[in-house]
Amino acid sequence: MARRYFIAGNWKMNKTSAEAAVLAKAVAQSVGGVSEVDIAICPTFTSLESAGREIKGTNVKLGAQNMYFEKSGAFTGEISADMLNGAGCEYVILGHSERRQYFKECDCLINKKVKAAVAASLKPILCVGETLEERESGKTIDVVSAQTKGGLDGLSAAEALNVVVAYEPVWAIGTGKTATPAMAQEVHAEIRKVLAGMFGADAAEKIQILYGGSMKPENADELLKQKDIDGGLIGGAALKADSFASLVKSAVALS
Ligand code: PGA
Repeated sequence: MARRYFIAGNWKMNKTSAEAAVLAKAVAQSVGGVSEVDIAICPTFTSLESAGREIKGTNVKLGAQNMYFEKSGAFTGEISADMLNGAGCEYVILGHSERRQYFKECDCLINKKVKAAVAASLKPILCVGETLEERESGKTIDVVSAQTKGGLDGLSAAEALNVVVAYEPVWAIGTGKTATPAMAQEVHAEIRKVLAGMFGADAAEKIQILYGGSMKPENADELLKQKDIDGGLIGGAALKADSFASLVKSAVALS
């Protein structure tokens, strides 16, 4: 497979700065030397510096969980792409379903953030995924396609190569319910088709598409073996260094 696996930890609103440093250090010690797959941790804004210090010089990269699209100014409480760059970030998670659900983020806002991230040389991890209600009413592919198109609208093919897409069925996040490998593969293949339509088959073949939603050491192998699943965006299982390391090792074994 030409695409490298990518295992990214989404720490969500967990860990103080000191706690994040401890976890980042443990992650660096266990997988910091792994070169076969891409690895990132995404702590809260307040922990970027402490966690970043612990992984500096290793193969574990730093990501943030959100940002605003403006460069600077009167936007109280917001963080810009340049600030994330300055804090050592390579990635930024955008459009996570929790932001869509609790903070009312729409595709149009997410698209502005994606463009601002790419313009600042940050790699966006664009999250897409359907709710249980949408799945049960047969709308999964429509919803995920619209979110992918809406989120990446206006990017060139060259810019799209710096984007990672994460398919995260909302009903599988933090619930212990995982999409079956076949269910996930079906959606991943559709996302790749959408990407091919937008950016050409060549670019689409190169873009990493991660699965997220209760991925853990016990189910990772079967998911990662699917043709269009290029890694995982990991929530709960990323909060312990040993389970995160085990996911990285599953990806290494399949590389
Ligand atoms: P989970 O979260 O692994 O805890 O389900 C994944 C995510 O929301 O990114």
